[in-house]
Amino acid sequence: MDKTKRKAIIAGNWKMNKTPKEAKELLNAITPLVKDADCEVIACVPYVDLSVALEATEGTNVKIGAENCHWAESGAFTGEISTGMLKEMGVEYVVLGHSERRQYFGETDETVNKRTKAALAAGLKPIVCVGELLWERECDITEEVIARQIKLDLWSVTEEELKNVVIAYEPVWAIGTGKTATAEQAEEVCAFIRATVAKLYNQEAADALTIQYGGSMNDGNADELLSKTNVDGGLIGGASLVAEKFAAIVKAASK
Ligand code: 13P
Repeated sequence: MDKTKRKAIIAGNWKMNKTPKEAKELLNAITPLVKDADCEVIACVPYVDLSVALEATEGTNVKIGAENCHWAESGAFTGEISTGMLKEMGVEYVVLGHSERRQYFGETDETVNKRTKAALAAGLKPIVCVGELLWERECDITEEVIARQIKLDLWSVTEEELKNVVIAYEPVWAIGTGKTATAEQAEEVCAFIRATVAKLYNQEAADALTIQYGGSMNDGNADELLSKTNVDGGLIGGASLVAEKFAAIVKAASK
């Protein structure tokens, strides 16, 4: 397997952090630090920060993503944001199916699939998150859980569309806990995801797919995680809120 076939992507997922004013400050600090990156750099920010984020990163190598989107084009969905709204602003990526949305906001594989299809149809690039709970890992059903999520979340996504999909493997027990998966655990599941995609599509499509690891990735452990064959990048929470830490992870991915 040739890792150089794939695009390394480091994406920050800011979650519910940073006001527009703070977003501008953080991006102004990040952009000069990552300007020579040899990987794709993305900041996925709260909806209200998108406008200033796009402005602050204009003409730089930092791309902007949203943290969710609805599947309908428009309509009576109070509080929701459509793919068309994001696209018109110039947003390129969108995080979908994050475990926090699955845990706290009733997100299911069915709704992740609907959002994924809608995002792709609108020309957005979805970062689809999958990952097992600690209990599921302890019961030794990690692979079943991941295979189910991959199959359902990507249901009816075409091979052509898959080229615009990024998968983020985020073990739920490693998110915001300071407890990172070991590089071996991350590699094992990312390789399993690739094998599952190869079965669903074909080996070429699987080899071209960028698979990120997420869960307490930071400037101290990024090097080791990213050295693994099937770990093509990172989806970074806490460490993406500190310019120097985020830049150090981008540097690790640029090697
Ligand atoms: P942390 O890096 O804070 O653990 O968050 C990971 C994450 O959920 C990224 O989407």
